[in-house]
Amino acid sequence: MISKEELIQVAIDARARSYSPYSKFAVGAAVACADGSVYIGANIENASYPLCMCAERNAIYNAMMDGKVRDDMVALAIVADTEGPCSPCGACRQVLHELFPSNAPIYLANLNGDRLTTNAAELLPFAFDGRDL
Ligand code: THU
Repeated sequence: MISKEELIQVAIDARARSYSPYSKFAVGAAVACADGSVYIGANIENASYPLCMCAERNAIYNAMMDGKVRDDMVALAIVADTEGPCSPCGACRQVLHELFPSNAPIYLANLNGDRLTTNAAELLPFAFDGRDL
């Protein structure tokens, strides 16, 4: 199984695929799966700003488009050049709640070696989900 630091390094490398001419804020993400596969994502922006897609959502969607489901995913790393570990936005927290295992490790990181390990349950307490419908 890929280590925490290896997964973070994959996410750092994924930042090179970011298309972020507007914010100039490159984010990389990497999802590790139980079978050893790893899926990357980077943020992809648009001149119509609301269409921007975050790195961690692209990584999860990338895994799903290759046939992976929630319980295949075992860890996620998110990295940006932030002062502290890069924290996911609210929209991504809602997506993680829906599509990523609640207690699997999510490594928040930056380029300076700061790391924070959390999970989807901690990131979005009192979440709204399909059971509420
Ligand atoms: N962004 C991410 O990709 N992930 C995060 O966790 C935070 C924000 C992106 C969205 C946008 O392209 C840029 O960073 C600035 O918000």
